[in-house]
Amino acid sequence: MADTQPVNDWATDFDILDEGYIADPFTVWEDLRGRCPIAHTERRESAFLPTKYDDVQAFSKMVPELSSADPLVIAAPEAIQQTEHFKKYGANSPPISSDPPEQVWTRRLLLPHFTPKAVEPHRQYTEELCNELIDGFIETGEADAAGQYAQQIPPRLIAKMLGVDESMTDDFTYWVRAVLELGLADPELRMKYRDVIRQFFRDTVAERRDNPGDDLISHFLAATDPDGNPIDPEIVIGMCNLQLVAGIDTTWSSIGSALWHLGSNPSDRQRLAADESLYPTALEEFLRFYSPVTMARVVTENVDYNDVSMCPGDKVIMNFPGANHDPDAFENPHEFQIDRKVNRHVAFGAGIHRCAGSNLARMEMDVAIKTWMKRIPEFEVSKPDEVTWAGGQVRGPRYLPVTF
Ligand code: HEM
Repeated sequence: MADTQPVNDWATDFDILDEGYIADPFTVWEDLRGRCPIAHTERRESAFLPTKYDDVQAFSKMVPELSSADPLVIAAPEAIQQTEHFKKYGANSPPISSDPPEQVWTRRLLLPHFTPKAVEPHRQYTEELCNELIDGFIETGEADAAGQYAQQIPPRLIAKMLGVDESMTDDFTYWVRAVLELGLADPELRMKYRDVIRQFFRDTVAERRDNPGDDLISHFLAATDPDGNPIDPEIVIGMCNLQLVAGIDTTWSSIGSALWHLGSNPSDRQRLAADESLYPTALEEFLRFYSPVTMARVVTENVDYNDVSMCPGDKVIMNFPGANHDPDAFENPHEFQIDRKVNRHVAFGAGIHRCAGSNLARMEMDVAIKTWMKRIPEFEVSKPDEVTWAGGQVRGPRYLPVTF
């Protein structure tokens, strides 16, 4: 289970799963930037936490010294690391869990499906879906904007893109939470649902091999590796797995955080309702301010960086959210500026692993927030004390009661 010992000093003993940190990581980063910009911990494993933009950028470029073979913020449980499968494939969610050269060619296979032009045809479906969800609760004057809305959108869209029945949505949602959220503190749950997802895709890939369609899985199956051979089925399964773990709770967390912000800040909500031209800057500011995703790297050789020495096996936490609040990189970073003009945020990461799905994520956020604001321009977070947040790997509201 999670190490729940209180943190005495964030510089030498940080805990990314600490409840206070999940609720408010901002003050921790602020404190660390002033006295120890790259913190260290020995909890669970030896890990470093950079808090400055330039350091996060520098670590993003350290390939192959920093590997992505085990990219979750809490290392895979020992029982997983000891399996032959893990030894051969690592976390096997390519390209996010691969290093070059595998990272390069698996990423190349994905990119054509996530260009702005390729994601645009999904806009209409997303809009219809958002309207349908709102139809389901608008008459009641209240909703859980996280559970009944944000959380419902990405899994349905990903299911559609994979050619999988929409009825799988609730399963997908729970499986992803079991691996990325609840499972971080519960290795058995993490292992169980890692296997559940893999078995689901093992069966689906086998079925799709016999009955190909116009969907992502069929496209992966029709592609070849750099030697011109059919792709190793385990890699295809890994790439399908990644669509769930990279595409679902990331995006729903961003949509949920945006609704939390608008439901807690009437002046921003009114400005956005009155002026649609603010959407492009507002979306980037939601991404910067509430960046959901933190990743990790494993050190593969001795690295000396500034005053810090890292050894093989150490972890580096890729603190993209912290980088986005660094005052050396952003003017007044703790202020949410809905019309912020210069915003070179790293919510989608940096370097070779930069998010391959960013165009899809932006489209989903744009449609989800615009549709909500058109139908429900006046709303507020009704019980702020009851809002719950997940964090660690992916930060965002999980229960968000609003009234309108
Ligand atoms: C707001 C929503 C999203 C955020 C904030 C986000 C963030 C990120 C970040 C920070 C990375 C870098 C990982 C690293 O450096 O280790 C990443 C990688 C990735 N993301 Fe996203 N993501 C989002 C949505 C999506 C969606 C919708 C998809 C596709 C369904 C997706 C697919 C990917 C893939 C495939 C990678 C790995 C790229 C590579 O390793 O070459 N993401 N994402």
